[in-house]
Amino acid sequence: MKLLEAKDHIEMSRLAADIILEQIRAKSNAVLGLATEGTVLKTYQELILNHKVHGTSFAQVRTFNLDEYVGLSKNHENSYHAYMKKHLFDEINIQSSNTNLPNGEAKDLEKECISYESMIHKMGGIDLQLLGIGQNGHIGFNEPGTSFNSKTQIIELEKSTRIANSRYFNSLDEVPTHAVTMGISTIMQSKKVLLLASGLQKASILYELFNSEVTDVIPATILKEHPNVIIIADQEALSKLH
Ligand code: F6R
Repeated sequence: MKLLEAKDHIEMSRLAADIILEQIRAKSNAVLGLATEGTVLKTYQELILNHKVHGTSFAQVRTFNLDEYVGLSKNHENSYHAYMKKHLFDEINIQSSNTNLPNGEAKDLEKECISYESMIHKMGGIDLQLLGIGQNGHIGFNEPGTSFNSKTQIIELEKSTRIANSRYFNSLDEVPTHAVTMGISTIMQSKKVLLLASGLQKASILYELFNSEVTDVIPATILKEHPNVIIIADQEALSKLH
């Protein structure tokens, strides 16, 4: 794992956007694995800015998101479908047919997981996977204890994850209890991984990530076995390591 230290959230986001843009320059039809939530938001703003100012084209880029809540309509403002449309897809020239997210409303969720996994393989796998990290070490929504062999799957969210994400909902009760997420092995098959961490609330888990052995208690530790991982963290997230 290669660590890039950023001064702050803004610098982290710019460095992350640069790596994503470099990937698109190298392969115009790159397959990007995308994340949602707070950490990656500014990275998407940087991509939009680059598209608007420098005309970078996303016309051939293909994307697969890590996860989606089970039971939330795609139009619900807190669905990851809505997040991606609002914060990235509607602002760049990507073709919506090239964007993929798990369908958390599928009648047969097991079948949805199998078909999502096989679509990723049909596209030739993910070239660059963007990740945030949960305070409990989750990647995607693969909570502690998830098998390292897992493929796209339905997962029960930990209470701590639901509490962390309840900031976007009116109450904790409204936060879905389950999500569909790419599995750990799905993520590990990506050719490159870019993990971002920002803020004091990520300081403990980053310390654990660097100082712990590979263990399913901290899912992100499996990334130590991936040959091509870049972690970009800001000074607050690195504060327990210094
Ligand atoms: C989101 C995802 C999650 C988040 C993680 C960090 O698609 O897969 O793993 O990346 O929960 O969330 P934030 O960025 O809000 O701290």
